[in-house]
Formats: sequence, structure tokens, C-alpha cells
Amino acid sequence: MNSNSVKILLVENIHPVAKERLEEEGFKVDLISHAPSEAELLKLLPSYQALGIRSKTELTAKVFQENPHLFVVGAFCIGTNQIDLKAARAEGIAVFNAPHSNTRSVAELVIAEMIALSRQLGDRNTLAHKGEWMKSADGSREVRGKTIGIVGYGHIGSQVSILAEDLGMKVIFYDVVKKLPLGNAQMRASLDDLLKNADFVSLHVPETPQTKDMIGAKQLSNMKKGSYLINASRGTVVVINDLVEALKSKHIAGCAIDVFPEEPASNKEKFVSPLQGMSNVILTPHIGGSTEEAQYAIGAEVAESFRRYLKIGSSSGAVNFPNVDLPVKQGTSRILNVHRNEPGVLGEINGIISKEGANIEAQYLSTDEKVGYMVMDLNSHHAQQLADEIQALSRSIRTRVVY
Ligand code: NAI
Repeated sequence: MNSNSVKILLVENIHPVAKERLEEEGFKVDLISHAPSEAELLKLLPSYQALGIRSKTELTAKVFQENPHLFVVGAFCIGTNQIDLKAARAEGIAVFNAPHSNTRSVAELVIAEMIALSRQLGDRNTLAHKGEWMKSADGSREVRGKTIGIVGYGHIGSQVSILAEDLGMKVIFYDVVKKLPLGNAQMRASLDDLLKNADFVSLHVPETPQTKDMIGAKQLSNMKKGSYLINASRGTVVVINDLVEALKSKHIAGCAIDVFPEEPASNKEKFVSPLQGMSNVILTPHIGGSTEEAQYAIGAEVAESFRRYLKIGSSSGAVNFPNVDLPVKQGTSRILNVHRNEPGVLGEINGIISKEGANIEAQYLSTDEKVGYMVMDLNSHHAQQLADEIQALSRSIRTRVVY
């Protein structure tokens, strides 16, 4: 595949690093700053082979069905709810996102909030702005030597662990999966064990049926008296009314909440929460991952996924597609094939190759319930002709030669 023949459309003000990186690879890149409507996309997309969006552009089944020539879509953000992933897969279009580009940003916010809670920074700041001088050491403590309990020791939780230990804190964590503790962190056998022993509890679990209402009245009462709760994971994890009660009774000394069961859809909508106006409560508008560094990292990460998928066929990290990552083999031609996952397709493909007398140097097939994705390195000068024959098979969705 010739890079110059691939045109990429990036919409919604994607960080400029994406355009830079893709142009360095020889792709042609056009930008538009707004989120195009379905009608606008249907007009624009026939001249592009790849599309990058952020969270506001909706990609419906119709967009994919009318543009089956698209190779790849990039969600230059974390979520992919705005994309009909199944419709994309049915057309053999891989979709990538950047789920971990903002990990460090969230971890840093959590550390800042822990210190802010421990020193009542939010309240002191508000009072000083109102002209009140509240100089007192009462209830203000260092975090050094205290224990942070991390619930969910994944990408973010483990970063918080490292930073907290650097501050001289003791780290304990709880996870449903056995995780290697970093530094001197210790895994606890149960959530209750963690809650009873932590001065700060920080939540870093995904939104699942098991984590819904995970922290309610019972768990809050199991926390140490005078401890703090931080939630920068998902709004469904904490029962807000139970937290309000725990704060009123002073059992919980403060909290920092970045995510809410109901969040305004845009900056123009009003935000309402029963936590508003309470003392030592930090409320932030889901900004855990919102930093310029994270935007840069997202731009670079998805651009790299485009490069790898378009140039070598690596679908590793695709959210709607079997993941295949076959190392490049010098001196071969690479054919990629997406097909309906039904018995016998690989046999048909290999039949075509052996009829030609070509030698398969490497081959990898990965399937999900609907499609199979095959990457094959061949010793043949007729790769394009073979790819055309493979594409003519009744179950083939898309076939291309990348080099
Ligand atoms: P991750 O998938 O890397 O880690 C989640 C961890 O939670 C895993 O280790 C998993 O085994 C564990 N886990 C799952 N269910 C559990 C349960 N019931 N009890 C205990 N542990 C459980 O996820 P990552 O990237 O660390 O993200 C964590 C959370 O942060 C997610 O909810 C994500 O949506 C949220 N997030 C919030 C942002 C913000 O702006 N506030 C930005 C980015 C992520």
C-alpha cells in the first residue's frame, strides 16, 4: 500500500501532534474543527480512507454501511459509545481509541486532592477569598506516614501507588484480580480489610455491575473515623446520599469527587449535587484525565495505531476487532484479510496460495464471534493477484496488501 494514496480526515480539533505524525508517515491529512453531522460525514467520507473523531461525532451504522471503503477509525478520546462498533466491524473497519493516555493525569489529581483534603485547602481558600482569616492547625495533617487504600490496582491505581509511596505514605490495595504489588505496597484480601486500615481511600475501579454502589452506608461506616474518600473513577461506584450522611456525622472527614451518577452533558448545563456546600468536600467536573499532556498523548497514541494498522496490519488495541500483531518479516509480502467467521475460510485462503505455489512464511488468524482477521506473510511476487482472489471468496469482507 502506498501511503500517499491514503487520505485521513481528522475532525473536532484533534491535537496537532496527530497530523504531524501521520504526515511524517506520508499520509495526506485534512482537518476540520467541528463535529460533523451524519449528513456531512456522508458527503465527506467518500474521499477518505481513515477518520479520526473525538467524543462529539456520532458514527452511525449508516455512516459505515455507506463507506465500506474506510480502513480505520480512531476515537481520539477514551470512550467509544459514540461509535456503532458492530456496524464498523461488519464492514471490516477497525476502530482504535486511547484508553490509557490520561492515566498519569488522573493519578496526579488524586495526589493533589489527598493533600488538599488533609489541609482543608478547599475551605481555607474559599474563606480567604471572602476576606476571612482562618489560621489554625486543627485537623490539618501531613500525608507522610499515613495509609492510602487503593481500590482497583490497574493502570491508574498502580500509578497512584508509586506517587503516594514517594510522598512517604504506606500503600495498601484491593483488587479482584491478583496484582503484583509495586514498591512496598501490600495487597489486602478484602475491601473491608482495606477500608478499616486506610486514612485515605481512593477508588480506581471500572464501571461494572459489580462496582455499582460499591461504596454505600455499610462500607463508609467500615472506614476509619476521620478518614477521607476520593473518587475519580466512575460516578456509579459511590452512593452519594450515603456519603452525605457520613460527612454530616463527621465519620468521614472529607472527600474529593470528580465523577457523579449524573453529570451535565456540556459546560452549558447546570451541575447539581447534594454534596454542594458541605465542608471539606472538593467537587470537580470530571477533569481527572483532562490535561494538555493527556490530549497530546491521545493524539500520538491513536496516530501510532493508524500507522501500525495501515502500514503493517497490526490491529493490537482495536476495540471492535480481533487483535493481531505479527512482527514484520523482511523480504516478504503481507496480505491482510477480514472475513466472516465461518468454518473453512482459512482452508479456502490457503488453497488459493498453494495453487499458486507460493510459500507462506508466517500466518496468524484471530477471530471473534463475528469476524476473523488474518495476517499472512508470503514469498511471492503476485501478492496483489492473490489478494484479489482471496477477496473474491464469498466470506471475505476486505483484503489488502500492505507491502
Ligand atoms: P484499569 O482497567 O486499568 O484498572 C481497573 C482495575 O480495577 C483492574 O485492576 C481491575 O481488576 C480492578 N477491578 C475491577 N472490578 C473490581 C472490583 N469489583 N473490585 C476491585 N477491583 C476491581 O482501569 P484504569 O485505566 O485504571 O481506570 C480506572 C477507572 O478510572 C475507570 O473507571 C475509568 O473509567 C476511570 N477514569 C476516570 C477518569 C477521570 O477523568 N476521572 C479518566 C480516566 C479513567
